[in-house]
Amino acid sequence: MLSGMIRENLYSNPQKRVVLVTGASTGLGLALVKELLKSGKYHIIATARRTSLHRFQDAGVVECENLWIRQLNVLSKFERDKIIQEATEKLGGVDVLVNNAGYCLRGVVEQVNETERLKQIDTNFRAPMALIRGVLPQMRKKRSGHIINISSVGGMMAMPTMSIYSASKFALEGATEALWYEVRPWNIKVCLIQPGFINSDSFKNVELTRESRKSIQDKNNPYYYHYNSMAPFIARMMRLSPSTPEKIAQKIAKSISDSNPPLRIPVTIDAYFFGLLRKFLPRTIYHAIMYYSLPRVFRWGEDDHYHMDAEYERIEASKTREVLGQDPCQPASAPSGPQECSQPIRSYQSTPRSFIETPRESIVERNTH
Ligand SMILES: NC(=O)c1ccc[n+]([C@@H]2O[C@H](COP(=O)([O-])OP(=O)(O)OC[C@H]3O[C@@H](n4cnc5c(N)ncnc54)[C@H](OP(=O)(O)O)[C@@H]3O)[C@@H](O)[C@H]2O)c1
Repeated sequence: MLSGMIRENLYSNPQKRVVLVTGASTGLGLALVKELLKSGKYHIIATARRTSLHRFQDAGVVECENLWIRQLNVLSKFERDKIIQEATEKLGGVDVLVNNAGYCLRGVVEQVNETERLKQIDTNFRAPMALIRGVLPQMRKKRSGHIINISSVGGMMAMPTMSIYSASKFALEGATEALWYEVRPWNIKVCLIQPGFINSDSFKNVELTRESRKSIQDKNNPYYYHYNSMAPFIARMMRLSPSTPEKIAQKIAKSISDSNPPLRIPVTIDAYFFGLLRKFLPRTIYHAIMYYSLPRVFRWGEDDHYHMDAEYERIEASKTREVLGQDPCQPASAPSGPQECSQPIRSYQSTPRSFIETPRESIVERNTH
């Protein structure tokens, strides 16, 4: 009955474009849904994994005339096909696809196994590609449409300990750039949104690999310093960032209403800055500057991590507590910096998912057979 009402409303208002947003129950996706709802110009299909659907209600977002809430795990071919079919049959197709769902895997190249690598690439790259393939026939038929892929500064520059995340976003950038040329003849717009550090809780959703989870707490591990410098640094940068999901959502909404949006849209100050660095600095100078700017890089590669400066560790632990909103002056008996920093991060092992059972097979591939 609800869908009947929606259809009626849509057909009586042909200007109402249908926007499908993936991973919309938190962070940037949720902010975008709220922003688009405010305008009243769109019919929004907000999607999330089954276990996250309850978050919409918690956030005060409930189904209404302009909003469908649907289950979509982007790794499931069945769920992808179902949502596209429903949108096509009841709403005449998706006009704007926002590939937002994604996550960041923390692990140096040596400590990411095949299963972890595949899941990261499947979620951040192959699933968006599969959704694009699903909506394009309809868009070509209408000779209009808009594909928006949420990339990252990690898609223009790689960061140590985020190797496969960067790989997934570089892949997304490359394919999206090719797509921009390919579908231009049908007047289909294509955008890459490039956020840098976002001031949100999403650093808590970073997933550790099986090995990086151990290394981050093991002073004997060769990558101990890599993780324990980068993780608190990134968390701090996110906390200090002036860019909120709401501000970025406004920029994405603007790109949706623009008649001719650019292919790449940097949406945070650091994204502009790094974009300029990459554009104008010779690569060798750029890499040298980046390397020596890495936090505590002078300690990386040391053989005996037990010689870590105790004072330095105490200061780092206090900064991390501050970032996490805890009392920075906790008694000395409290866990040390590295352990605290790993606490809020979602444990890879503690949330086993079905894909782990099929390590050699990519999830998207399996679903397309
Ligand atoms: N936060 C940043 O600083 C930052 C910077 C650059 C780029 N980005 C990009 O911005 C996008 C949004 O991130 P965010 O900051 O809003 O992080 P977030 O709060 O962690 O949101 C990510 C969303 O993606 C969903 N997701 C993950 N795997 C999924 C799957 N298999 N199927 C469906 N949904 C899935 C998550 O759902 P669950 O809640 O069910 O896990 C969550 O709702 C991502 O593509 C991210 O890479 C973020």
